[in-house]
Order: sequence, then C-alpha cells, then structure tokens
Amino acid sequence: MKYNRPRGTVDITPENSEKWIEMEQLLRTVAANYNVKEMRTPIFEHTELFSRAVGDTTDVVTKEMYTFKDKGDRSLTLRPEGTAGIARAYVENKMYALPEKLQKVYYMGPMFRYERPQNGRQRQFHQFGVEMLGVESPYVDVECMLMAVTIVEALGIKNIKLHINSLGDDESRTAYREALKNHFRPVLNDLCEDCQARFEKNPLRILDCKVDAKNPVMASAPRTIDYLSEKAKAHFDKVCNLLDDLEIEYVVDTNLVRGLDYYSHTVFEIISDDPKLGAGSTVGGGGRYNGLVEELGGPATPGVGFAFGMERLMLALDDEEDEENGIDVYVMPLGDEARDLAMQIITMLRANGFTCDMDYAGRGLKGQFKSSDRFGAHLSIIIGEDEVKGEYVNIRCNHSKEQSEVKLEDILSYIENHYEGDHEHE
Ligand code: HAM
Repeated sequence: MKYNRPRGTVDITPENSEKWIEMEQLLRTVAANYNVKEMRTPIFEHTELFSRAVGDTTDVVTKEMYTFKDKGDRSLTLRPEGTAGIARAYVENKMYALPEKLQKVYYMGPMFRYERPQNGRQRQFHQFGVEMLGVESPYVDVECMLMAVTIVEALGIKNIKLHINSLGDDESRTAYREALKNHFRPVLNDLCEDCQARFEKNPLRILDCKVDAKNPVMASAPRTIDYLSEKAKAHFDKVCNLLDDLEIEYVVDTNLVRGLDYYSHTVFEIISDDPKLGAGSTVGGGGRYNGLVEELGGPATPGVGFAFGMERLMLALDDEEDEENGIDVYVMPLGDEARDLAMQIITMLRANGFTCDMDYAGRGLKGQFKSSDRFGAHLSIIIGEDEVKGEYVNIRCNHSKEQSEVKLEDILSYIENHYEGDHEHE
C-alpha cells in the first residue's frame, strides 16, 4: 500500500523549512515593530461561524469549506480564513472590555479551502493575518496597509502594487445594491445559475463570478465609489490623503470588491506582477469589517485587517542563494573509541551553545568530509586512533583550511577563541 498526500497539500521538508522559519521570524519582527501581539485560535470552528461571518453566498462558504460532523454530531469546519475565528474569540474573551481600546493581533497558520490546486493555490495553505479591532479611524486602515507594505518590502518582494477601494457603510451599500440590481435585471437570463441566485441574495457577489467574468455587462457595472454616503466618502478620502502624505504608492481600483461578505468601507489588495506567481496575482488582501463583531453577538465594534498567503509570499521571494547558515562544528570519528569521544564532545559543545553534529554511519574520512561540507560546518573535528591515544583532536577551519592539534581539555576554549568577534555564532 502506498500513501500519497491529499491533493492540494504539500510537505515542507527540511530542505525548505529553513526558508519558512526565516519568513516567520521576519513576520514576527514586523509585528513587534507595529506593537501587534500574537493570537492563536482553533483550526476548526462551528460551521455556523463561517457561514455567518464570511457569508453564505460566497464561494468560500458554498463551495470551498472542509466541513464534517464530529462524533457528537456537531457540524465543524476547518477554518478557511482567520478573521472569523479572531472576531469570535474577541467576543468570547470579552476583549472589547480591555482598557486598551484598539486590540491589534496577528496569527499565522494553516487554512483550508477546497479549490482547484495550481501554482500558488493549495487546499491547505498558510496565512499570516493581522486584525485591529475597536477603533474606527482611517488612520487604523492606513496602519494596516502600511504594515502590509512593510512586510512585502522587508521580504524584498518587488513588482507589487497596493490596490484600494471603498465599499462604503450600510447606507452606501443599500444604494449600491439597488444600482447593481437595476444594472443586472435586464440581462439576468444571460447570467449563470449561481448569479441568478446571487441577484436576490447578494448582488455584489455577481461581480466576482468566475463563470461570467468575461461578460461585458460586468465591465459596465456601477462602481461602489459612486454610491458612497458622505460619511463613507470622507473616510475614504482621508485614507487616500494619509497614503499620499506618507508617499505610499497605490491605485484606486474600483473593481475591487473582495470575495468575503464582512467588508465595509476600505478594502485593499497587494497584487504582484511577478511572473513566478502569474501576472496580477494577489499575495494579500483585507479591509474594514465594521459589522462583523456585532453580527457574531458582540457589541458594535469596528475592525480592519488583512492576510497574506504565505506560499505566495514564498513564491515571490527572490531566489537568493542561501546565506551561510551551516552548523558550527561537525565531528568526524574514525573507529569505535573515537566515536565515544565524539559523542562526549558534541554533548559538551551543544551544552555551550554551539550547533553541532557528528557521523554515526561509521564512514571513512572522505564520506565524513562530504557531510561536513553539506552541513556547511564552520569547523570539523577529526578524531582518529592516534588522537584517541594522545588525548587530543584535530580541529580544521573549513574556511581558512587551517588545522590544529588541540588537547581534549582545550577544545572549548579553542573554539570559543576561534569564534571571538565572529558574528556567525551567536
Ligand atoms: P482572502 O483574500 O480570502 O482574505 O485571503 C488572503 C490571502 O490568502 C490571499 O490574498 C492569498 O494570498 C491567500 N490565499 C487564499 N486562498 C488561498 C489558497 N487556496 N492557496 C494559497 N493561498 C491562498 C482573507 O482570508 C481575509 N480573512 C483577510 C482579512 C483579514 N481581511 C480582514 N482581515
């Protein structure tokens, strides 16, 4: 019997896990820089949470959720996104009552959507997301966008654009909904079945239909920004002015409506033109969701956030050669007695903070040197029969190729001296 991983999933092997760890560390550093704290919520939630929060006419809810019954006959769903869980936890943990009105949190982890797998699209993928809850201010929208831009810049991802739009408040959305219905009503029979259902329930979702995307009636559809209430327009104008003042480049993209139902006011996406992702691919997106917390049974609480697809960030990263991040010491014993000694040495060195490894396969010198090379070891310690008898080892610097005989009791001080002032070992 041969087992394969499920379609749309990947194994992150040691070969590329370093890159993931580096990215995760960078994301945590940026989060700390913005004073955003980590929050961890369950990977599965009650199905009802997602149909409520994300919207039961969205593709995510109708077509892409991994939903199952547990042994207690409860309907649960593997989270397709992170915002719903955070908003649920914000209410459940009464975070609205905390003295700090603006709660800024981030999360990082796997999400699940039953989509057609392709480059940059998986069924289990990872998101890094940020949610800022509690304050309705265009400054907070801009703080989110700034953070998103900082992340792509810190990762060295080029050819990206910040697209922004506004969906407005309830008043704007009601007016816009009517305009959309008037626009689509005469051609309703030409649209797909899904769109006909969306027409009554949620006409905005017609705009992100994949089947009817090329129908010219889409391009001529009314634009949300033409239906903004005065208040919503003032909010959006302030967002744009702040971005201008901060010299953050952006384009107002009136077609941007996002695929999840909880948004109001500002929505944005970071779009990459990197050919590795396919032109015009979205690496991250988000927006304001002022009604969500209340919808989930909490007090009326404004929120804004975004999420990046980490696989897409990874694809867009420059394929720079891995910098030196090899181990400090590789110990190469020849013979049984040497092996005993080698194990004592690595244990002592590890206890002193050095990263090291040794040969357990009992290979000859040549094979062991190859491993030392593969691990990018800074130093190799060679222990043969003579060394065991004479109670010393040979330490070779793989950079300078210098080799010295070092007494057993001097190994630690020799290595420490070697590293003195060397930033590679911290
Ligand atoms: P979203 O646009 O659905 O937003 O997803 C955010 C990002 O996740 C996308 O831009 C994409 O990079 C990545 N992504 C989505 N689906 C897949 C997939 N199947 N495979 C690989 N990557 C994928 C949200 O999820 C919102 N919760 C963002 C948000 C946070 N809005 C406010 N706060």
